[in-house]
Amino acid sequence: MASAMTESLTIRRPDDWHLHLRDGAMLEGVLPETARHFARAIIMPNLVPPVVRGDDAMAYRDRIMAALPDGMAFEPLMTLYLTEATDPADVAAAAASGLVKAVKLYPAGATTNSASGVKDFDKVRGVLEKMAEIGLPLCTHGEVTTPEVDIFDREAVFIDRVLDPIRKSTPGLRVVMEHITTKNGVDYVKSQDDMGATITTHHLVINRNHILVGGIKPHYYCLPVAKREEHRVALVEAATSGAGPFFLGTDSAPHIDALKEHACGCAGCFTATNTLSVLAEVFEKAGALDRLEAFTSLNGPAFYRLPVNDETVTLTKGGAVDYPAKIETGAGPVTVFDPGFPLHWSVA
Ligand code: NCD
Ligand code: ZN
Repeated sequence: MASAMTESLTIRRPDDWHLHLRDGAMLEGVLPETARHFARAIIMPNLVPPVVRGDDAMAYRDRIMAALPDGMAFEPLMTLYLTEATDPADVAAAAASGLVKAVKLYPAGATTNSASGVKDFDKVRGVLEKMAEIGLPLCTHGEVTTPEVDIFDREAVFIDRVLDPIRKSTPGLRVVMEHITTKNGVDYVKSQDDMGATITTHHLVINRNHILVGGIKPHYYCLPVAKREEHRVALVEAATSGAGPFFLGTDSAPHIDALKEHACGCAGCFTATNTLSVLAEVFEKAGALDRLEAFTSLNGPAFYRLPVNDETVTLTKGGAVDYPAKIETGAGPVTVFDPGFPLHWSVA
């Protein structure tokens, strides 16, 4: 639905297919930042304790809706955190009721609050088979956690050692490789049938130099960690191609500044606030503004077999748009992702 002039662009209202909302005061602080622009989001279950059973997801969904300011519309699409004790029947019931839209696999220890994740994949075989049977997607945090594997290689090794074996041993299981950061991820997803991949806003913008050159930049540290420039370029090509398997999952992951700017800083970039303006800039630079809608608003619903949103949003190009450097939440200040270039597209 791109208009003829590129100065204004009207697209279906976007969805975010990978989002961390947290809980309590942080949830209250960050939820409006997403609900302002996005209709729906796949909500990550890595709370403490994690969202494991259907009942946990129901209670979390209620807390999210209670935190939504009056007059804002937003639909949380809930997920369950896969553990070695997950009961296939509980997953099936939560999916059948329409509450739960995916199950999330975290290899144990891969990232923030992932201690309950999976160590022994034989123990989750029954759940994966049930999910294949009912068509419920598995969202994967695609990194191995083996200490011997270099952190920059963990995604590529995950594909060979974990993802490809799961795909081969569970025919029909629908898998989303979450927040891909490598050309290896792009190529693997393209080689598969009925597989999706989310790409974050920040991985379209930064490479590993942004984190490490000229002093360590904790607000660019996230997991999977940003890789070399050639990988960022492959991600931009995939996202701006409009191809069906690739869709937006911001992985907006708020941590208070005190925990980011720390001797052992938390992983996560907070991009909910300015994602659409940043993406418009990235797509414009790639000559692909006409494919922004596929990435933000069409490909995700198609993969998840959900309708696209009826409402639209309009982006308008003008002078530099200012976003706050940080948002204040009841839990503390959270720094907004700085793309490092001026933004010209504002969201009406
Ligand atoms: C996420 C978080 O903080 O919950 N952090 C991140 O760097 N992306 C966890 C995750 O998705 O890996
Ligand atoms: Zn995440």
